[in-house]
Amino acid sequence: MKILVTGGLGYIGSHTVIELITEGYQVVIVDNLVNSQIEMLAKIEKLAKQKIPFYQVDCTDENNLEEVFLDHQFSGIIHFAGLKAVGESVSLPLNYYYNNVTSTITLAKLAFKYRIEKFIFSSSATVYGDQKSPLIETMPQGVTTNPYGETKAISERILSDAAKINENFNVALLRYFNPIGAHKSGLIGELPTGIPNNLMPYITQTAKGIRKQLYVFGDDYDTLDGTGVRDYIHVVDLAKGHVAALKYNLSGAEIFNLGTGKGTSVFEIITAFERVNKIKIPYVVTERRAGDIAISYADPTKAQKNLNWRAELTIDDMVKDAWRFEKNLK
Ligand code: NAD
Ligand code: WQD
Repeated sequence: MKILVTGGLGYIGSHTVIELITEGYQVVIVDNLVNSQIEMLAKIEKLAKQKIPFYQVDCTDENNLEEVFLDHQFSGIIHFAGLKAVGESVSLPLNYYYNNVTSTITLAKLAFKYRIEKFIFSSSATVYGDQKSPLIETMPQGVTTNPYGETKAISERILSDAAKINENFNVALLRYFNPIGAHKSGLIGELPTGIPNNLMPYITQTAKGIRKQLYVFGDDYDTLDGTGVRDYIHVVDLAKGHVAALKYNLSGAEIFNLGTGKGTSVFEIITAFERVNKIKIPYVVTERRAGDIAISYADPTKAQKNLNWRAELTIDDMVKDAWRFEKNLK
């Protein structure tokens, strides 16, 4: 079975490619390198112990993308390619809408044309908006607070409408919670460009001395210790969720939460990082970040039951693996 992985040189895509190959799938990667580097390919190939066909193509470019479909016959598509920085999406909304929505439409059109029956889409817990956790798939989409989140909500609706009119087009809308951590090898992990937006890369860069201190965005939320609570999931568990979705007999468009079901606060993450890695993280508490919600965690029951998948790695594994990767970076 040959799978097209768009955005396969990125953080989640690279880990998923390894899991797919471990499970015996053939993989073809498409990435335009807008947020990744070509060196990642050799690292993935080293871990996968095989060469992987790669195309430097933009998923919004239908003509060039079609060449890939002419070269290979795919039984599924996993569509990771997208821009993901929430703050940047507020200042560059047109880029975000164009890139994320157009690439989804373009791929879906090609999936129709080449009769590809499985389409797995990287959605996000952000589409729930500020509803009360545990967040469950039967809740309606919520109000998103930024263009990035809106591109995910729109893409979900586009793919759902497409699945309604084509019984051969089946879609898994995977709503990721907060992926952190890295591959055990320390070879691949999250590589943010510039100042990290997300908590874990900011912590690892602070541990390494690249950043002077961590800014904790608010300690006056209505949570156990006042800091924001999220459902952190190890990126390798998340990657395995994609393999589980491919194996599942999808029918139409189906939503699945990929989370652990457990909420962890910013202070708890800092404490775990310090305890496991034996490094102090200097931090100051600052203002809340605009658009942040207090609490977000999944009800992962549906994925556990239907996909026969469950997140297994702990917060300790996540902080340990994230630090191993950062330490190894030159
Ligand atoms: P990433 O930026 O590391 O990977 C995305 C990859 O897609 C990059 O290699 C980038 O170069 C590529 N890309 C972007 N636009 C492209 C285009 N038009 N054509 C071809 N390639 C393109 O991000 P990630 O963290 O691996 O996220 C993967 C997907 O999961 C994204 O769609 C993201 O929105 C979604 N997601 C991520 C998170 C998270 O916290 N990391 C959470 C929820 C959802
Ligand atoms: C986690 C917690 C912050 C940084 C975002 C996107 C979401 C998805 C995942 C892509 C919050 C706090 C953070 C820092 C802090 N992305 N924090 N200091 O905001 O839950 O989700 O990434 O799809 O769509 O919105 O993740 O890691 O940014 O924040 O105190 O320097 O850490 O306030 O409570 P978030 P995050």
